[in-house]
Amino acid sequence: FPFPPQPTFPALQANIGFSLLALVGTLLVIPKVTPAFLAKNIKGRDLLKPGGRTSGPWVPECLGLPCASLYLLLMMLFIPFPFSHIFQVSSNNGVGREKFPTGELTFYLTSLLSLLTATMLGFIDDLFDIRWRHKLPIPLIAAVPTLLVYYATGGWTWVVLPECVGKLLRSLGLPGWIGAPVIDLHIFYYLYLVLLPTFTTNSINILAGINGVEVIQPLIIAMSVTLNDLLFLPIWPEWLLEFLGIENPAGGRMLPWAVGQVVTRHLMSLYFMIPLIGVCAGFLWHNWYPARAFPGDTLCYFTGMAFSAVAIQGHFSKTMLLFFLPQIFNFVLSCPQLFHLVPCPRHRLPHFNPETGLLEPSKAIFKKRPSLLGRVILEVFQVLGLTRLERAGAPSVPKDGPSLSDSQPKEGDLTSATNLTLINVLLVRLGPLREPTLCLCVGAVQVAGSAVAFGIRYGIGSLVYGG
Ligand code: UD1
Ligand code: MG
Repeated sequence: FPFPPQPTFPALQANIGFSLLALVGTLLVIPKVTPAFLAKNIKGRDLLKPGGRTSGPWVPECLGLPCASLYLLLMMLFIPFPFSHIFQVSSNNGVGREKFPTGELTFYLTSLLSLLTATMLGFIDDLFDIRWRHKLPIPLIAAVPTLLVYYATGGWTWVVLPECVGKLLRSLGLPGWIGAPVIDLHIFYYLYLVLLPTFTTNSINILAGINGVEVIQPLIIAMSVTLNDLLFLPIWPEWLLEFLGIENPAGGRMLPWAVGQVVTRHLMSLYFMIPLIGVCAGFLWHNWYPARAFPGDTLCYFTGMAFSAVAIQGHFSKTMLLFFLPQIFNFVLSCPQLFHLVPCPRHRLPHFNPETGLLEPSKAIFKKRPSLLGRVILEVFQVLGLTRLERAGAPSVPKDGPSLSDSQPKEGDLTSATNLTLINVLLVRLGPLREPTLCLCVGAVQVAGSAVAFGIRYGIGSLVYGG
């Protein structure tokens, strides 16, 4: 495979330029469009400030829309750059004309299509608060073009089984294909890929509610993906490889795994991630405590879709999921509330204590006893230190008074639990915190998650290698 194609590097430099434009553009555009959003009543109360739900400050909502628009416009302007070396040769009267890489162009265009769909869905959700059962299928349908491109570019459907697990399965006398080193998942792999955009878009949206947190997540994930992409480019000085003791039989300033088609795919991913860092960093400036702008679901959906698009088309969906460890944890923790085994209030963001100015864990109050399964899960979560439960005390009813009705909690019954989110877990474990400190803690968890992700991917890489 003829890599490195040297003329691609000016495209990378141009991409960094576009990223700076995205950063400066976002910094400038948000204050400019704020009055228009407020005039159209697209605003929300900042619930974690004095006054909260009734008289908290109004903040323009849904400003992910200008961010997504700016990003999409810049990415459209950028399209010719990765192919610039072909134009140069073509202009020479067609002599030595190279075949146009339509595969890469299709990759690029379908990613833009998915991003547009996600932005539209997020904006509709912000305006009309659509129901879960209506909004869940949309990313599934938006994934179809991406999946077709995945198929067309030879998309594999197999996973590598770690040698030790294979040995164990074979020793159990199961059919040979179960313990094979490589298992082809066929249609199930596509099912997993279809579900990926639904997960990446919604998982960022449900780790939300404090200033800065919705945008600090995609910022750190985009930086992690960028670093991972760079590990596949021929940019590493030989002395550094030597110093780190990394052997590279192929030579050429590359790390050993950077071979063949993989390099081009990660270069494409990089083109999407670097400007995304610019947009997220610019928006974080306005969304940081005390927020002057809210991202709305638009930002969560559009950034989430950017991650699944590059992961599917770049064939590194499992590595991408590793960068979503905090979101996976938050989703699993949230499941009892999302599936209504435990009551789920409209907002699960922390509780603001006006006397101390600090955030405390918020509670889901039980009007009736949760189901047996719900109670068991809550007890287990409490043992694991993931929630704090409250129980009813002895009822203060006179001895000869009316007997207790069934709906009234009996002594020892659960009356409330702290809401099941990562943000509340941090408050349960660390005690009350200021809003910006809590946001930094979530950011630290995200960074730690990425460190673990790199450890798994490149340390015990055989477990997840192959995408
Ligand atoms: C998701 C969460 C919900 C959380 C909400 C906060 C789930 C299932 N849903 O719902 O629990 O309360 O996000 O974004 O976990 N807001 C602030 N400060 C912020 C950000 C948002 O007060 O820093 C408030 C504002 O009033 C804003 C509203 O949250 O208007 C936005 O909520 P929205 O994004 O529509 O909520 P969901 O995504 O449906
Ligand atoms: Mg939201």
